[in-house]
Amino acid sequence: MKHKYQVVTFGCQMNEHDSEVLAGTMETLGYEHSEDLEKCDAIIINTCCVRESAENRILGYVGNLKRLKRIKPGLVIAIGGCMVQQPGMAEKIRKRASHVDIIFGTHHMHRLPQLITEAINGGEVQINIEENEGEIPENLPIKRQGSMKAQVTIMYGCNNFCTYCIVPYVRGRERSRAPEAIQKEIAALGREGFKEIMLLGQNVNSYGLDFEVPFDFADLLKSIDGKGGIERIRYMTSHPRDFTSKLIDTIAGSKTVCEHFHLPIQAGSNKILKLMNRGYSRETYLSLIEEIRKKFSLCSITTDIIVGFPGETDQDFTDTLKLMKEAQFDAAYTFLYSSRSGTPAAKMPEQIPLNVKKERLQMLMEIQNEISLSINQKLIGQTVEILVEGESKTSDQIMSGRTRTNKIVNFPGDKNTVGKLIHVDIKNAKTWHLEGKMINSPQ
Ligand code: SAH
Ligand code: SF4
Ligand code: F3S
Repeated sequence: MKHKYQVVTFGCQMNEHDSEVLAGTMETLGYEHSEDLEKCDAIIINTCCVRESAENRILGYVGNLKRLKRIKPGLVIAIGGCMVQQPGMAEKIRKRASHVDIIFGTHHMHRLPQLITEAINGGEVQINIEENEGEIPENLPIKRQGSMKAQVTIMYGCNNFCTYCIVPYVRGRERSRAPEAIQKEIAALGREGFKEIMLLGQNVNSYGLDFEVPFDFADLLKSIDGKGGIERIRYMTSHPRDFTSKLIDTIAGSKTVCEHFHLPIQAGSNKILKLMNRGYSRETYLSLIEEIRKKFSLCSITTDIIVGFPGETDQDFTDTLKLMKEAQFDAAYTFLYSSRSGTPAAKMPEQIPLNVKKERLQMLMEIQNEISLSINQKLIGQTVEILVEGESKTSDQIMSGRTRTNKIVNFPGDKNTVGKLIHVDIKNAKTWHLEGKMINSPQ
């Protein structure tokens, strides 16, 4: 019988995709995925540390695995990803969680097979967290989660050093993957029947800035647009600071790059944006989204916002609320500021008390929900094209898909629509999704 493994993922899409590589790696070692942790011979935890809440959850999770290790001493527990890359964290885990066998950072995923073998043969806890920003490992095995949407990393790391953010410290400097490697991967995905590609990077607009021969993100999009049966191309995340007119024009002229712009603004006050080191003002941000809306008759714009950054006064927060009303985002992902040790913001004076942060978050969410609903209501009566992804969360009679603008549309239908592009009439609108009726049978 094959040995069993599970990869447990915390964090962003980057981590989700890294976990696909970790799963692929385990399968080439002869392991088989199991949903049941108790049956596993190896558990790999891929961690996040962008906010303290994630970290606490992970530490709790790892603590709970002690019981399993006691029952099954041969169990290999490996903990990798962003969290262990922080200074002192590996030691902290070694001391507090002696049942962990392997600690491997974001630069050592490709070494997992060797680390697992060493752990099975017994011996010391393996710690591998030193930074290694040399070559990007290519051709790692990937076990993809779905068969329709695939994630493709286009760059690693981040050079932006927003003052609140831990990512540049744990993911290292920006490194772009060679265009040929990306194109080859996408062509293969097209042949396998994938319909949608999500290009991943912490700041995709910086793609290619580290190349000697100029080839930027817009060039990359142009080179993959409309090729190999891929119907939709998305990307995550783009930074408002260097979202160029060239990029906007390239997307407007493309066939498959979707009209969804996720442009995290983070705050609406110029004072706070400056303290955050974001490199744009509310005015330049608003003119960017105006430019986008002028070019696209139908598009969606979403954002991320942090409330309670150090020094955020009532006036600063009011500026954020005002910006939300002006910008009319389709959706906003809102976060309580979380102090990350080692970042400049952690040492700034005037940290905001938790209750104030929570009040502000509540106000922000209420305003955004109203805006999201009213934007969605305007779609009632329209016909939209969706790519059907599967059953909806609530019923197997109701299918769920997404518009090019990334809105979820649920509609009565059956499984043969999955993976197809179909047209639906929008009948009803909610804050987070739309409800529709299919008007043609799948092509
Ligand atoms: N590279 C992406 C986002 C990475 S993290 C970008 O720049 O847009 C995803 C989101 O988490 C960020 O957009 C930000 O809103 C939030 N975030 C990052 N660090 C945070 C912190 N210390 N506290 C609260 N939210 C944070
Ligand atoms: Fe963090 Fe800023 Fe880099 Fe995004 S761009 S990962 S928020 S430092
Ligand atoms: Fe978290 Fe690392 Fe992503 S810190 S948000 S998993 S890059």
